[in-house]
Amino acid sequence: MDVNDMGRDLEKVLVSAKEIDARLSELAKEIDEYYDGEPIVLVGVLRGSVMAMADLARKLHTPLVMDWMATSSYGSGTKSSGVVRILKDLNEDISGRRILIVEDIVDSGLTLSWLVENLQSRGPKEIKIMTMLRKPEAIRKMKVDVDWVAFDVGEEFVIGYGLDYAEEYRGLPFIGTLASHVYGGEE
Ligand code: PRP
Repeated sequence: MDVNDMGRDLEKVLVSAKEIDARLSELAKEIDEYYDGEPIVLVGVLRGSVMAMADLARKLHTPLVMDWMATSSYGSGTKSSGVVRILKDLNEDISGRRILIVEDIVDSGLTLSWLVENLQSRGPKEIKIMTMLRKPEAIRKMKVDVDWVAFDVGEEFVIGYGLDYAEEYRGLPFIGTLASHVYGGEE
């Protein structure tokens, strides 16, 4: 999937595939330095973090295991409520291990703060967080400390590189904004 498949549905490209690649290389270097060869468990939160997990994992030299959780947030519409249900749990026992959560986006921070608390109860040695995107509300509310942020974005609705609108556009190699006619707004 690329820009040409989007037609009029794309408003603009916010972060190009090249920019994503360069920023992930920078972060991978920082993350490798931080762990200094100690093994980690990468925890991806389905489904949005698939692209970031796949690309980050390929750039890291730190020995790693990849595991996944699927959660569903109760609540209406596009806002998460912070009440989360586990649809798929981790396969790994994370007790005593160093965990790096990989997220696609932190918005209200409710999902992450729930996740950190849930994983913390399993006795890991440490939990760190990396996210591709962070929205202003996440900074304002400071619900969770994110250790590595690829890009801070504004309030706009973002899609691509794992992020969807009604399950579409996850396959885009870049991060963009959606034209408002797609979600029923004015143009
Ligand atoms: C998205 C995203 C985060 C969460 C962030 O997941 O992947 O997990 O919302 O929002 P918050 O900071 O306001 O809690 P979503 O529930 O849309 O599922 P998806 O990854 O399958 O798209």
